[in-house]
Amino acid sequence: MFAIEERAQRRPLVAALLLCVWCRAAAERVRYSIAEELGRGSLVGPLARDLGLSADELPARKLRLSEEKQYFTVSEENGNLYVNERLDREEMCGESASCSVSFEALVHNPLNVFHIEVAIEDVNDNAPAFRKGVLELEIGEWTLPGARFPLETARDADAGRNSLLTYQLTSNPSFSLALNENPGGKRQPELVLERALDREKQSSFELVLMAVDGGDPTRSGTVQIRINVTDLNDNQPVFSKSVYEARVAENLPVGSLVLRVWATDADMGSNGRVSYSFGNVPDDVPLFFVVDSESGEIRIAGLLDFEEKNKYSFGMEARDGGGLIGHCEVQIDITDENDNVPEITILSLSSPVPEDAAIGTVVALLKVRDRDSGENGQVRCSLDRDVPFRLQSSHGSYYSVVTARELDREQVSEYNVTVRAADGGSPALQSSAVLALRVLDVNDNAPVFAQERYSARLAENNAAGALVLTVRATDADWGQNARVRYRLWEGRVRGAPLSSYVSVQAETGALYALRSFDYEEVRELELWVRAEDGGAPALSSNVSVRLLIVDENDNAPQVLYPPAAPPAASGKGGWSGVELAPRSSEPGALVAKVVAVDADAGQNAWLSYELAKATEPGLFRVGLHSGEVRTARFPLARDAARQSLVVVVKDHGRPALSATATLSVLLAESVAELLAELGSAAEAAAPGEPAGSLTRWLVLAVAAVSCLFVAFLLLLLALRLRRWRREQLLAADSGVLRGVPVSHFVGIDGVRAFLQSYSHEVSLTADSRKSQLLSWRTAVFLPFENF
Ligand SMILES: *[C@@H]1O[C@H](CO)[C@@H](O)[C@H](O)[C@H]1NC(C)=O
Ligand SMILES: *[C@@H]1O[C@H](CO)[C@@H](O)[C@H](O)[C@H]1NC(C)=O
Ligand SMILES: *[C@@H]1O[C@H](CO)[C@@H](O)[C@H](O)[C@H]1NC(C)=O
Repeated sequence: MFAIEERAQRRPLVAALLLCVWCRAAAERVRYSIAEELGRGSLVGPLARDLGLSADELPARKLRLSEEKQYFTVSEENGNLYVNERLDREEMCGESASCSVSFEALVHNPLNVFHIEVAIEDVNDNAPAFRKGVLELEIGEWTLPGARFPLETARDADAGRNSLLTYQLTSNPSFSLALNENPGGKRQPELVLERALDREKQSSFELVLMAVDGGDPTRSGTVQIRINVTDLNDNQPVFSKSVYEARVAENLPVGSLVLRVWATDADMGSNGRVSYSFGNVPDDVPLFFVVDSESGEIRIAGLLDFEEKNKYSFGMEARDGGGLIGHCEVQIDITDENDNVPEITILSLSSPVPEDAAIGTVVALLKVRDRDSGENGQVRCSLDRDVPFRLQSSHGSYYSVVTARELDREQVSEYNVTVRAADGGSPALQSSAVLALRVLDVNDNAPVFAQERYSARLAENNAAGALVLTVRATDADWGQNARVRYRLWEGRVRGAPLSSYVSVQAETGALYALRSFDYEEVRELELWVRAEDGGAPALSSNVSVRLLIVDENDNAPQVLYPPAAPPAASGKGGWSGVELAPRSSEPGALVAKVVAVDADAGQNAWLSYELAKATEPGLFRVGLHSGEVRTARFPLARDAARQSLVVVVKDHGRPALSATATLSVLLAESVAELLAELGSAAEAAAPGEPAGSLTRWLVLAVAAVSCLFVAFLLLLLALRLRRWRREQLLAADSGVLRGVPVSHFVGIDGVRAFLQSYSHEVSLTADSRKSQLLSWRTAVFLPFENF
């Protein structure tokens, strides 16, 4: 540019010079030098004088500058050259080393041309400058020392010394500055790496490069150099510990934090970004733990069970983005929680237990186990308190249940024994098992009758096979041991086996009468029934059964005296006799006594006598209970000698049975009359019979002594009764047949009983009423024979 300007300046100058060459011989050259940046009006030099013009000549010569740019002006008064415009060398000449402005000065009259050259001297008015304020550099940390990094050069607009630059770098041990002369003579600053970089120690540097020019005073410019040390993945992740340990309780919920591993990588960027993962792990570890690859947190993934595994040990890896791996070990101890209830296993159970088992008999064997450990696994066992069993600790976790007391099946036949096990945890866990123990029956109970003794009343004349009563015995035992069978103890009744009278049904205990009982024969049966259970050996007990035969009024009173006339002879079919009564008898004199018995008992045998019919009513009366026939008044002369009395004997049964006795009473004053009467009486008594025979007299004699006889008879009866009662008492002791009970009818009863037994002794075949009657008569007369 400058060059072009110069050429353009010169063209007219050359033309002018050619012109001048023609008109002037030689041109003179004038040189000036000024510093740049002078102000307007600054003196450059005395041009007119230097051109040889005097002050007087000046106006005429008309000094003029032929200068396009008008940098300078010449004074018309004194001809001095002044600066017209501020001159910037850098603007006018750029970086060229020399800078000058050439122009012509014209002088007229004569015309003359002078060359004027004004050199513009540089002034250090420009500081060195860098294009950017900051230089950023990336240097890999792997870069070897000595490496050079060219830096930007600074520029200084000044020239010469003023633009002669030197560089300075802030002092840093890692870097130095080298200046490289390039072929153009310019100095190129270069950063030299003095020693190896370690990003991990210092990742960046800040340096300042200063460019200084050679002016006076010097000017300088600076640039910041920022150096980032780029990372080499030269560091593997390093865990903060080589072994991480943690203790966690079992059964933690999924997701719980166990521990956190932490690895650091000194590298930068992805080289320093660490992710975590399992390293060398057993197969089960991933089931229970997960690793957060970002945070390094190890969390629970599955329920941990101390009882299954109480320690996990595995490797962890930390991997950086560059693939370098760091390792560590993780050890996780699982602590026990009381999460297992004690287990009770019944190894053996001997049920049923015999009730006579000895104390200490083992009935069950148990095993108790708790999978927890420590206190949590310490198991205590207990039994119900109120059972006759206790626990016996065998070795270790084995227990036996033994009987503590005697068992009684009849009290408790079944036990549900609860075994409780509690561990030592807090809170303790419990479990229980029930031992169902049955008690086996042993035949230790005899049958027991419901009543201490049984008695039953059975009306006589019962049907054969009638149910009399049922005995019942219970046995507290069980099953066959409680199965009761009844049996009759054999005995004899009146010479016959007891079993012909009654029988007991074995199963039911029902007692049946086998035959129809006759109170008059058997009044009472005393027997034993035995109950026997089905155990082996069997137990038995017996009970006494008293069977009372209840009397029925089945026997009519029987008149013993007066004896009945033979049925064929007796026209009335009743009893007849002849009594003697003196006509002088006092009222109330005993004439005769009707003696009657009744085979029944009690009311049925309680007889009463009534006078039913009399020839002379009012002459005789009959004692209601005694049967004594007495005179009621004095016999009168008009009373017939022969009096006939019919006495009705009635028992008190319901209905009452009765019999009649016919008495013939002779009223006589003397024996002759008596005999005469007797003869007619005999005729009257037995009209069909021939009279006057010896037999008739005999009968008469008997009649005469009948009163005496009755007296004797009563005496005899009394004696015999005493003896017989003694015998009966003895017989009662023998237990088969009891005597006649003492009652207020003892008198009549006694007579009857005596007669009964007596007749029994005499008549072994006392079946029919006829033969019985015969035997009665025999009985009546036998004592007489004895007498
Ligand atoms: C140098 O590092 C700084 C901070 O770490 C960053 O801001 C800058 O961009 C980096 N420069 C280069 C060139 O990477
Ligand atoms: C024992 O337990 C069984 C079954 O639960 C039950 O049937 C029985 O009645 C119980 N026995 C006793 C004596 O509690
Ligand atoms: C009844 O049983 C008891 C005890 O078993 C025995 O002593 C007695 O002899 C028995 N009696 C009869 C009559 O069998």
